[in-house]
Amino acid sequence: MIRFDCDYLEGAHPKILKRIVESNFEQTPGYSNDEYTKYAVAKIKRMCKNEDIDVHILVGGTQTNLTVISSILRPYQAVLCVETGHINVHETGAIESCGHKILTVKSEDGKITAEQIEMIAKNHNDSDMSMHMVMPKLVFISLPTECGTNYTKKELEDIYKTCRENNMYLYIDGARLGYGLVAKDTDLKIEDIPNLCDVFYIGGTKQGALFGEAVVIVNDELKKDFRYNIKQKGAMLAKGRLLGIQFDTLMNNELYFTLSRHAVNLAMKIKEALLEKGYKLLYDSYTNQQFVIVPNNKLKELNKEFTFFKVKDIDKNNIAIRICTSWATTEENVDKLITKL
Ligand SMILES: Cc1ncc(COP(=O)(O)O)c(C=O)c1O
Repeated sequence: MIRFDCDYLEGAHPKILKRIVESNFEQTPGYSNDEYTKYAVAKIKRMCKNEDIDVHILVGGTQTNLTVISSILRPYQAVLCVETGHINVHETGAIESCGHKILTVKSEDGKITAEQIEMIAKNHNDSDMSMHMVMPKLVFISLPTECGTNYTKKELEDIYKTCRENNMYLYIDGARLGYGLVAKDTDLKIEDIPNLCDVFYIGGTKQGALFGEAVVIVNDELKKDFRYNIKQKGAMLAKGRLLGIQFDTLMNNELYFTLSRHAVNLAMKIKEALLEKGYKLLYDSYTNQQFVIVPNNKLKELNKEFTFFKVKDIDKNNIAIRICTSWATTEENVDKLITKL
């Protein structure tokens, strides 16, 4: 079976495994106080062209969102995102379990707009009942989004400006940040991101690491005591060196972006083939996730050799699926899929 359902189906890039094996018998201090983590943090700072950021490497995406969001919000404050936001639909109520409401807005393409944020803030602040409702304090976005779409620099500037004007923080979930930043529908660069949000994370799990997400805290107000939050949420890895080694390797000679480009180039090959063959796309994505509508009987045939993530039924006869490429997808498997499509 050839799998295209998601981007965490393979292990890790061989360079990472090699370094983990080579360093196996080294003794290092625990809880990310090791030299490998220091190197990784230094490289992330250099890559972001910002020496003032704090970097903490956690283990997984849900754990990172939970740790970051619960550390920012006071008990009566809420986080705002689109209906399809990962924290809203795929994290088993992790945010709610910390006592925080998720406020949602509708979106056709997975993106929130500055106008929507403005409207939520205004409705809250102008209401006579504001004190009787949760206070919208944090905006959560994914870059790229759950629909594979991207934000442009202008869109992100507008969103961040609106957040600041309304006394709200902006958090960017970058589980697939590399796949987003190398896509042709954004002009954002990694060094722009720290200037356009309060906190974000650079995803490793889907981008060539065995596991790991690097949280970058930009806003000084959010830096204090963050390690206490990491530990309390069970997110502090005793053998933190494993995270350090992985990110140090990914940040070396831009391996992170080389792997991202590989996945996105193959996704673009699939997208072109889909369009050429007359398939309709659910979203116009230029990242490693492609969303396409296929007849049910065609999917049945494809499923004999390939697996995909089923997004939703379109009607009685058609279904939308997600086709994902990753840092490890081979061109040979992509070509096999294209032939069968
Ligand atoms: C945007 C985004 N954030 C967070 C996560 C959560 O990652 P995990 O399932 O590893 O906790 C995912 C995983 O699919 C994701 O796509």
